[in-house]
Formats: sequence, C-alpha cells, structure tokens
Amino acid sequence: MSVRRLADESVQPPSFAFNKENAVWAKATIKKYPKGREQSAIIPLMMRAQEQEGWVTRAAIETIADMLGMPYIRALEVATFYTQFQLKPVGVRAHVQVCGTTPCMLRGAEDLIAVCKSKIHPEPHHPNADGTLSWEEVECLGACVNAPMVAIFKDTYEDLTPRQLEYIIERFEAGRPGDVTPGPQIDRVYSAPFGGLTSLTEPDPKPKASRARPKTDAIETSPAVESPADGKIAEPAPAAEDGAASSKAEAKPTLDDPNRPKGIDRPETPDDLKLISGVGPKIEGILHDLGIYTYAQIADWQEGERSWVDGYLNFRGRIDRDEWVRQARALADGGEAEYIRVFGKKPR
Ligand code: FES
Repeated sequence: MSVRRLADESVQPPSFAFNKENAVWAKATIKKYPKGREQSAIIPLMMRAQEQEGWVTRAAIETIADMLGMPYIRALEVATFYTQFQLKPVGVRAHVQVCGTTPCMLRGAEDLIAVCKSKIHPEPHHPNADGTLSWEEVECLGACVNAPMVAIFKDTYEDLTPRQLEYIIERFEAGRPGDVTPGPQIDRVYSAPFGGLTSLTEPDPKPKASRARPKTDAIETSPAVESPADGKIAEPAPAAEDGAASSKAEAKPTLDDPNRPKGIDRPETPDDLKLISGVGPKIEGILHDLGIYTYAQIADWQEGERSWVDGYLNFRGRIDRDEWVRQARALADGGEAEYIRVFGKKPR
C-alpha cells in the first residue's frame, strides 16, 4: 500500500467551490441523510469535487468538511484512505489504476505495470509529457475473479493481457474511450465462466406463463430471431433494399450521411466477414455493396458509423450487442487464433 499524501502546496489551488449545477446537486445530496448524519454525504461530495476539478484538492476537502460540519482531519482521513480519490493532478484523459494484489499479481499484473511504465511514465503518479495519462498501482479492486485488471475512472477493464492494455491506453490517449467496452475483455459475462456456461445449460422445459412473450401485434418483432429448432440466433433480416421498411422501423439512414463508414475498392482477397457472429452471406453482400471488405475497416468503426450501419440494416442495436467491432478487431489482430484467445471459441 502506498503512502497517500496531499499534493505539494505549490500545485494546490487557493480555494474551491462547486459550480452552480454541482452546488444544487450537493445540497440535495446532503438532504438525503437524516439530521445530524449529514457527514455521511462526504464520499459522494468528494467524488463530485474530483469529477469537477480532476483531482481532490486540499481546498475541496476543507470546503466539503465545512459544508458537512465536520473537522478537517475527519475529511482528510476519508480522502487519504480511499484510492478512488486522487490527491494529485492525474492524466486528464485517463488515470490507470493497476491492481497489484495477489490474484492479479499471479495472473500478470507485473506485465500490466510494465506497459504503464513504457506507455505513460516510468514512475507512478507522474502524468505523461502531454498531461493526458497517468497511472498507479492500487490494492484489490474487487474483480479478482477476472484478474488481472485495471480501473480507469469509474470503469474496470478485466481479464487483460499486456497487448489489450496497450490498446486501451491508446484509445484513451486518442480521446476515444468509447472504442473500448468496460468489463471482461474475453468471452465471459461479468464473472461467469470463460467460454460460456458450464452448468444449468439446458433450457427451462416449461417456461413460466408470466415470462412468456405475449402474442400481440403491439410487440415489435426483434430482428434477431431465435430458432426454436437449434437454439441458435438466426441472421437478422436486413431492412428492405428499396427503403420500404416496416412502418414501425426507424427511417433508413441515407447513403450520403457523413456517418456512413468509408468504403474501399474491393481488395484482391477480401476478409471473410461471415466469421463475425451476426454476419451471414446476405449481410456480407450488403457490406460489400457499401465498400466494407476487411476486418480492419469494421474494427475502426466509431459510434456514429456503428449507428449508421445498424440503422441501415434495421438491426436496432444488434451491432453493439453482438460486438462486431470487438470481433473484427480480434480477427484483424491475429485471425482465428486471436479470436479464440479473446472469445474462448472459434469464430462462427
Ligand atoms: S486482486 Fe486484483 S481485483 Fe482483487
């Protein structure tokens, strides 16, 4: 455990005040606690101060202590105890907290620290030259089952390899944190087994009536149709090519929309896009018509582009749910072997 001290006086601002919006929020938050117990609001208030200023300054600690009617030393105890509070200026785009406790250490935390040293700064708590990134080692962050892991601001990134952490740091540095999905970076849901369920794998033979889907025209049919015969998800039906989509479907995005992904000329050997779960021959044909031929193109799609393709195919969020970008990135990075490493199974 590192010694946590306030930043040097030379970087401490002389005063602190919540901005207008946060001041209203702070007042309402304090009111949530019973009279005489207002001090319980210290953690949410300190977090809000950190979000406003980027780190927790001495002035913020003292101002919040005054607001809650508590001695400064009690507020300082809270700020210096929890590693979620940054006591010095940190990278404005990412402060990477690497868990260095035993389970994470046994599963490769040292390699993750080496990545931080080489990509950010050789020393913890030192922002990089641009002031965009910083890192530190912290104690257990409570995701040991998915070790090794890091936390960046309010999100955790788990089941990491050094290469994946490099990628995550690069995305944050580029100001594109949305390219990375927080949570496990392999094929598991939360802390469920890697590669899928190992128990309770049989479908419930008699679904409870209350959970059955009502048969009514008022319920929209999802484009992802589950086949009762084999339990597999069928390829979703794309929107009608002539634009005559269902009246319930949203308007199809236009081909001249700036969010349309940039197409390329057909390469001599296009990638097999059907290896991406959710892409069948029909969808692959539509992607080709749009000039999408490679995994690398899909791996680069930002939110706007994903949303455009999703709307064009009338997928209603299917591209993000099926993680096309993450699948494409694995295939682009290392083909089937990398896909198996990331998802724990063969592509399609
Ligand atoms: S040991 Fe790393 S999250 Fe618990």
